[in-house]
Amino acid sequence: QSFEKKILCIGAGYVGGPTMAVIADKCPRYKVTVVDIDAGKIAAWNSDTLPVYEPGLLDVVQRARGKNLFFSTDVPAAIAEADIIFVSVNTPTKATGVGAGMAADLRYWENTARQIRQCADTPKIVVEKSTVPVKTAEAMAQILSMENGGNLFEVLSNPEFLAEGTAVADLENPDRVVIGSRQTPEGVAARDVLVEVYANWVPREKILTSNIWSSEMAKLAANAFLAQRVSSINTIANICESSGANVQEVSRAVGMDRRIGPKFLNAGVGFGGSCFKKDILSLAYLCREAGADAEADYWESVVRINEHQKERFVRRMLDAMFHSMADKRIALFGFAFKPDTGDIRDAPAITIAGRLLDEGAVLAISDPRALDGARSVFGDADGRVEYVEDPYEAAKKSHAIAVLTEWQAYRDLDYTAIYAAMEKPAFFFDGRNVADHAALFDMGFNVYPVGMPAMTHF
Ligand code: NAD
Ligand code: UDX
Repeated sequence: QSFEKKILCIGAGYVGGPTMAVIADKCPRYKVTVVDIDAGKIAAWNSDTLPVYEPGLLDVVQRARGKNLFFSTDVPAAIAEADIIFVSVNTPTKATGVGAGMAADLRYWENTARQIRQCADTPKIVVEKSTVPVKTAEAMAQILSMENGGNLFEVLSNPEFLAEGTAVADLENPDRVVIGSRQTPEGVAARDVLVEVYANWVPREKILTSNIWSSEMAKLAANAFLAQRVSSINTIANICESSGANVQEVSRAVGMDRRIGPKFLNAGVGFGGSCFKKDILSLAYLCREAGADAEADYWESVVRINEHQKERFVRRMLDAMFHSMADKRIALFGFAFKPDTGDIRDAPAITIAGRLLDEGAVLAISDPRALDGARSVFGDADGRVEYVEDPYEAAKKSHAIAVLTEWQAYRDLDYTAIYAAMEKPAFFFDGRNVADHAALFDMGFNVYPVGMPAMTHF
C-alpha cells in the first residue's frame, strides 16, 4: 500500500503513543510508526493492554493499528523510510554533574539525533516533541548537520500540551498547536508540511507558527504558569484554614473574573506528574544561566511551595491525631498523581506515604489504576504497607482516611458503612476536597478539608 506521508515517532511513552495514535486515526493516508528501545513497551502497544492508561485510547489504537499505525523496535529501518520524525523521548532532570537536580538531561535526545543522522540518507523533517530547554533544537540541528552535506534535516519545535487522563480529548481538540521553525525558506517549507498534518483535524486558526525559541519557551512557560496557579491557590488555602474562609468559595469568586478564569484553582496536596516540577526547574536553570537570579528564585518558589504543601498536609494529620501515627492504620484513597491515569511519577502520594511511614504508620493504599506503581515504590515495607483495590477494605479498622487523588469513585462511596468499620475517633483528611464534608461530620467523622477550617467533635 502506498501512503502519502511516512511519519515516525521515536519514543513510545505517555506522549509518543497517544499522539501518534491520534494522528494515525485522523490521517488514514499517512503511515505512522512508533518505535522504542523498550521491547516490552512495544509489545504492550501491540496488545490490548496498552502501557498507558488513557480513557478512549484503546479504541483509537484499535481503529488504526495494523492499518496505518505500527509499533516496532526496528529503529533504523523506521528512520530510513520516514519523511517526518517526531522525537518524544524522555527528558528527565539531570541527576549528577553541572545543573544536577535542575537542568534537563538531554542524553536521550542527543542519542536519538545521532541515530537519525546515522540511519538517514533522504531528507527528513525532525520534530522536537519532547519538552526541552530553549535552544535545544539548535543543538540538534548542529548534531544532525555534521556529515551528509549538512542539508538533509530541518528541525522543528512542536511541543505537546496534552494532559494525562484527558490525552485523547486534548489531542483531538487541542486549544492550540505550536510549531516553531527557522525563518529561512527551508524552515518555512518544513513548517508548512507539519501544518498540513495537523490541519487534517485542527482548525487553522489554532495552529500557531513562531520561531523555534518561542515555541520551546512557550511550552516551559505554559507549564510554569499552570503550576504557579496551583501553588498560588494552595498558599491561599493554607491561610483560609486558620481564618475561617473557605478556599472553594474563594476560588469561585476569583475565577469568575474573566481575566483570571475558573480552571486550575483547586487547592490540594500539591501538583504531581512528570512535567511541572521538571519543567519549572529547567526554566529556573535557564534563568540562572542567563544571570537572571531573581527570575529563577521566583519560579523555584513555585516548587518550594509545592513541597511545603505536602509536608503541611502530613503535619496537619499528625497534629489532629494526637501527634502520633505509630502503628495506626491509615487508608490512602488514591495514589496516582491525578485521576484517570495510572501514572505515579512525582505523585504527591509518594512523598506523603513516605512521611507517614517515617512516622510509624501502617498504610492501606487504594487506587483504581496505580497500585502496581505504588507497589514499585514501597514494596512490602516490612509488612507496613498493604495494597487494596477496594476502598471499603482499605478503610476497615483504619484510624484515618486521607484522600490524595480525586477519583470520581471516592465521591460516591457509602461513607456511613465506611465510618462504622473504622477505629474511633475516625479522621477524614480530604486532600482533594472530594467529599461532602458536612455529611461526613454528621456521620461522626472528624473532617479536615484543604483550605477550610476543620470540623471536629472534640
Ligand atoms: P516516557 O518516559 O513515558 O516515554 C519516553 C520513551 O522514550 C520511553 O519509552 C523510552 O524507552 C524511549 N526512549 C528513550 N531513548 C530512546 C531511544 N534512543 N530510542 C527509542 N526510544 C527511546 O516519557 P513521556 O511522558 O512520554 O515524555 C516524553 C517527553 O514529552 C518529555 O520531554 C516530556 O517532558 C514531554 N511531555 C510529557 C507530557 C506528559 O503528560 N507525560 C506532556 C507533554 C510533554
Ligand atoms: C501538565 C499540563 O497540564 C500539560 O499541558 C502538559 O502537557 C503536561 O503537564 P499533567 O501533568 O498531565 O499535564 O496534568 P495536570 O492536569 O496539569 O495536573 C498536574 C497536577 O496538578 C496534578 O497533580 C493535579 O492534581 C494538580 N492540580 C491541577 C491541582 O492540584 N489543582 C488544580 O487546580 C489543577
